[in-house]
Amino acid sequence: MFGRIKPLDAILATAEKKSLHRSLGPVHLTLLGVGAIIGTGIFVLTAAAAQKAGPGMMWSFVIAGFVCAVAALCYSELASMVPVSGSAYTYTYAVVGELLAWMVGWALILEYAVAASAVSVGWSGYFMGLLKSWTGFELPAMLAAGPTWSLSGVDFSTGIINVPAIVVALSVTALLMIGTKESATFNAILVAVKVTALTMFIALALPVMNGEHFAPFAPNGWFGPPGTSGMGIVGAAASIFFAYVGFDAVSTAAEETKNPQRNVPIGLIGSLAICTIFYLFVAAGAIGAIGAQPTAIGVQPGSPEFAAQCAALAQQGQEPLVCSREALAHVLRAINYTWAGDLIGLAANLALPSVILMMLYGQTRIFFVMARDGLLPEKLATVHPKWKTPHIVTMLTGVFVAIAAALLPVGQLADISNSGTLFAFFMVAIAVLVLRVRDPKRMRPFRTPIVWIIAPVAALGCVALFFNLPIEAMLVLPIWGGIGLLVYFAYGRRKSHVGLGKIEIHEEDPDVPPQPVPPID
Ligand code: ALA
Repeated sequence: MFGRIKPLDAILATAEKKSLHRSLGPVHLTLLGVGAIIGTGIFVLTAAAAQKAGPGMMWSFVIAGFVCAVAALCYSELASMVPVSGSAYTYTYAVVGELLAWMVGWALILEYAVAASAVSVGWSGYFMGLLKSWTGFELPAMLAAGPTWSLSGVDFSTGIINVPAIVVALSVTALLMIGTKESATFNAILVAVKVTALTMFIALALPVMNGEHFAPFAPNGWFGPPGTSGMGIVGAAASIFFAYVGFDAVSTAAEETKNPQRNVPIGLIGSLAICTIFYLFVAAGAIGAIGAQPTAIGVQPGSPEFAAQCAALAQQGQEPLVCSREALAHVLRAINYTWAGDLIGLAANLALPSVILMMLYGQTRIFFVMARDGLLPEKLATVHPKWKTPHIVTMLTGVFVAIAAALLPVGQLADISNSGTLFAFFMVAIAVLVLRVRDPKRMRPFRTPIVWIIAPVAALGCVALFFNLPIEAMLVLPIWGGIGLLVYFAYGRRKSHVGLGKIEIHEEDPDVPPQPVPPID
C-alpha cells in the first residue's frame, strides 16, 4: 500500500547489531510506565471529566482505560517485533508505508507537543494554588490562564496569557537542550511522590464519602444532551483518555529490556492496570467527598458560558469540583485538610515537569528520526557538538509548546492531543492486522491474543472516542492533517531517503540522544 516502505528486515538487522545493555525487568518497566502516565490527567482533568459526566466519570475512566489496554496489546506486538524506538511512526513506515507514516508522525506532534503544553498548563494551575495557599499572593487571572477558543470565536474573559505555563515549558526545554538527564534515582523518587500523593488523597477522601453525592449519577447521560459535542460519560472518556497517554514510553524502552517478548507487554498492561485502579479510587474519593455535579446540564468545561457560571458561583462563595484548576488539592482543602491539599499541590509541582520532559523528549525524538529519513529538513536533526542533543529541533518544539500552553486552556489542549493520539493508535491497530496478513510467518515475540477481535476493537474504540471529542478538537486533526499533506508533497516526498532509494535506518544512530529519564534502578 502506498509504495514506499522502510524494509522491516533492515530495521531489525540494525536493532540486532546494537548491543545495548539489556537490564530492565517487568517491575522496572511497569514503574517506568506509571511514571510516564500519571500526570495532569488525574490531577487536573478530573474536574473537566466531572463537568462532562458528573459521578458517571467513573465509567469514563473504565472506558478510556479499556481502549488503551486493547491498543496497548496491539502496540506490544509491533514493539516486540520492531524493537527500535521511533514509536508508531517507525512501525507504520515499516508496515503500511511512507505516506501514512508521515501522517502518523505528523499526528504524533499533536500527541506529544500538545500534551506537553497541556501538562504545562496543568502545572500552572497547581502552582498558582500553592502560591496562594502559602503566600496569599495571586497573579492576576488574566496572566494565569489563556483565552477560550470555540467555533464562535476567541473569548478573553477566562484569561489572556498563561505566564507560569510558559515559564515551566521553556525551563524544561532548556534542560532538555543542554542534555540534562534525570538520574534513575530521581525518576524513582518522582514516581514515588506521585503514587504517595494519590494514595494520601484516597486515604483522606474515601472515609468522608457521602453516598448522596453519587446522585444523579449521569446528569449528562452517556452522550450528552442533543446538540452538544463531547459531553456525557463517553465524551468524558474521550477527554480523560489523556490521563492514560504515555504508556508507550514502555515500548520505547523495549531495546533495554531483558526478555522484551515477555516483559514489554507485562509493563504496558501492568502500568495501565495500576493507573486504572488508582484513577477509579481517586475519582470515587473526589465524588464522594465533595460531589461532582456539573454547573449546568450540557455546558462544556472551559467554555465562556462555563467560566461565567463558575465566576457567579465563586461570588456566592462556592467552588465546586468542576470549577477547580487544581482538582485534587481543592477536594482536600474543601474537606478541611489544607495541609494535605498543599502537599498534593507540592507533589504535582514537583512531578509534572518530568511528564513534560518525557513528552517533549518523545516529540524531539520523532522529529529527529523523521528529519534523518529526509522527510523534514535534515538541519533539524543536527546534534549539538557539546550538549550532544538535537538542540535545534528541541528549541523549536519548546517554543511551539510554550505558545500553545500560553494561549489555550488545559482541557482543550488535552482534547487536541487526544485527537492525534487516537489517530496514531488507530493506525497501530491497523498495522498489526496488515502485517499479520502480509507477513504471517515472521517471528512475533509477542502476539496480540485473539488479534482479529482485539485489533478491530482497538481501532473501533479509537474511532468512537475520537468522535466523542468536542467538535473543535475533532476538527483540528483533519486541518492539521491537511497541512501535513501539503508539507509532505511539497517537501518530504521529494527528499525522502527511502524514495531516493537509500536504505538507511536512523532509529538507532549512535548519536541519537538517549532517553532523558533512565529507567528505575
Ligand atoms: N498521562 C499524562 C498525564 O495525565 C499525559 O499528564
